Amino acid sequence: MPAPFSLTSPLALAPLAGYSDAPFRLLCRRLGAGLCVSEMISAHAIVHGQRKTLEMLDFSEEERPVSLQLFGADPGVMAEAAAMVGALSPDFIDLNMGCPVKKVTKKGAGAALMANPTLAEDIIRRVCRATPIAVTVKIRAGVNATHITAVDFAKMAEAQGAKMVAAHGRTWAQGFSGLADWSVVAAVKKALTIPVIGNGDIASRDQAFQRLAESGCDAVMIGRAALKNPFIFREFGHAPLAEIVDFALRHLDLALRRGQNIAPLRTRLAAYFHDFRGSGEIRRQLVSRATAVELRAALMAIAACRTS
Ligand SMILES: Cc1cc2nc3c(=O)[nH]c(=O)nc-3n(C[C@H](O)[C@H](O)[C@H](O)COP(=O)(O)O)c2cc1C
Repeated sequence: MPAPFSLTSPLALAPLAGYSDAPFRLLCRRLGAGLCVSEMISAHAIVHGQRKTLEMLDFSEEERPVSLQLFGADPGVMAEAAAMVGALSPDFIDLNMGCPVKKVTKKGAGAALMANPTLAEDIIRRVCRATPIAVTVKIRAGVNATHITAVDFAKMAEAQGAKMVAAHGRTWAQGFSGLADWSVVAAVKKALTIPVIGNGDIASRDQAFQRLAESGCDAVMIGRAALKNPFIFREFGHAPLAEIVDFALRHLDLALRRGQNIAPLRTRLAAYFHDFRGSGEIRRQLVSRATAVELRAALMAIAACRTS
């Protein structure tokens, strides 16, 4: 990947609404992820100064390179939001053109932009003009099986000033079902001169490097697999139980400092414990803890119990 895009690792954390918040991004970065993209953040809400949304723009310097992802369908609003976000000096502003969730697409945003390249072009052009920060675009393979448009779409993004494209090998119509088509991802990489990040269905560290080599991409992005195993970003791709507990405790502390609610948090932390004898019972224990104090005690008990 050419400077200034040289990442310390070609494995990136994908943007994950409800998950790739500042605490999780920082912890994945510390484990070795080369880039951790924020949750999608509403351009409209930024422009209207909604407090909860503005909090989503927080990041720590240790996280750099920082990529904040915006979604929206109004080129003027997207440009205004990008100018505001640019003032925070992230390393990248990423534009979401892949989210298939109805709430987003019914307003013409996210993956609906794959079906409206003229509007997408206008958004990318105006956002690139509105900020000196490098603009990147996350796209899908196309609209549906008969409209695999990623190559033309990505070329359009490059022509309008995008500095990097992330391509998820599923179509809008697929949502999260079926399989990602990495031949489309490889075709996007071949067609562009800017760096391309491939994405979709990577389940292990070995597979990540295999996809990287086969597709020729500059980096690959990992989403769902990292939620269960963030150690995918670290050498060997897994960790002993004591380290998983330590990671969960750190996650808990960082999240509590940001005032996050315990209910979604305990489910997230429980997800780190899987695929070993007794992991189901550990998950049940963790999700039934009502307070942060109880949750911390339950985590510490796991470590104590396994080492005694
Ligand atoms: C719970 C969840 C939330 C997601 N949120 C976003 C998002 O905010 N922005 C985005 O561009 N993609 C989002 N995605 C898509 C992922 O970034 C990624 O493209 C997709 O999950 C495929 O990669 P994976 O197979 O490694 O998970 C989300 C996916 C999931 C499962």
